[in-house]
Amino acid sequence: MTSQVYAGPYGTEPRHPGWPARLGPLVVRAGNVALRPVHLRDGREWSRIRLRDRDYLEKWEPTSPGSWADRNGFGAWPPQWLSLRALARRGQCLPFAITVDGAFAGQITLGNVIRASLRSAWVGYWVSSELAGGGVATAAVALVTDHAFRAAGLHRLEATVRPENVASLRVLGKAGYRQEGLFLRYLDVAGDWRDHISFAVTAEEMGAGFAARLIADGKAQLPEAR
Ligand SMILES: CC(C)(COP(=O)(O)OP(=O)(O)OC[C@H]1O[C@@H](n2cnc3c(N)ncnc32)[C@H](O)[C@@H]1OP(=O)(O)O)[C@@H](O)C(=O)NCCC(=O)NCCS
Repeated sequence: MTSQVYAGPYGTEPRHPGWPARLGPLVVRAGNVALRPVHLRDGREWSRIRLRDRDYLEKWEPTSPGSWADRNGFGAWPPQWLSLRALARRGQCLPFAITVDGAFAGQITLGNVIRASLRSAWVGYWVSSELAGGGVATAAVALVTDHAFRAAGLHRLEATVRPENVASLRVLGKAGYRQEGLFLRYLDVAGDWRDHISFAVTAEEMGAGFAARLIADGKAQLPEAR
């Protein structure tokens, strides 16, 4: 295992290793997938896609106060971005924008980053419906997982998915996550307490890397190999 080892909160551990970062690209059916920090200027596309994709996104996302239009209108992005940036600066979150051929296409976030002797985080993601089934989320999960275990120095990543979310279950399966258990009435999603299947990977399972495994499985390519 080649990922960096940090000495702990009072030793040589940098405050937020692995941030900021640009990851990829990986080439998939939909195009060139890359990750970069979310920007304030992502607001217009973020809002356009999310207002259009309400039916596609809302049933899988945590329940929040306010209407979908209020929470996803253009004006909702600056406070969200500020909050993500503040968490990132404190080393508690790695909030990436997913781009496809350079254009904003969704988000993937490593959240609740805990260091010391846990060194874990959760991974969460969404992708524009226009690109559905194009391999974008799978590539993004592979890129962020490699980064988490290398530059960010984490040891364990977790993801939780509703059993009905076939696309997301498939993403985690393709990306090499392992099913660990079932959390009953785990999260308030779309207005009710929903069961979730928990998935995880640890750094020991990395091998040559998650992106390298996708490439070996024929599910992604490096740009020069296209
Ligand atoms: C889940 C999500 C991120 C997947 O993004 P994506 O870029 O389409 O994912 P990928 O193309 O990498 O993989 C999706 C896989 O699911 C499959 N799939 C999608 N819908 C499916 C369905 N209804 N039944 C069976 N398979 C399905 C696709 O065919 C693809 O598998 P394949 O490559 O073997 O063909 C996207 O659907 C999304 O944003 N959903 C709403 C938000 C969400 O659910 N976030 C995750 C919460 S845990």
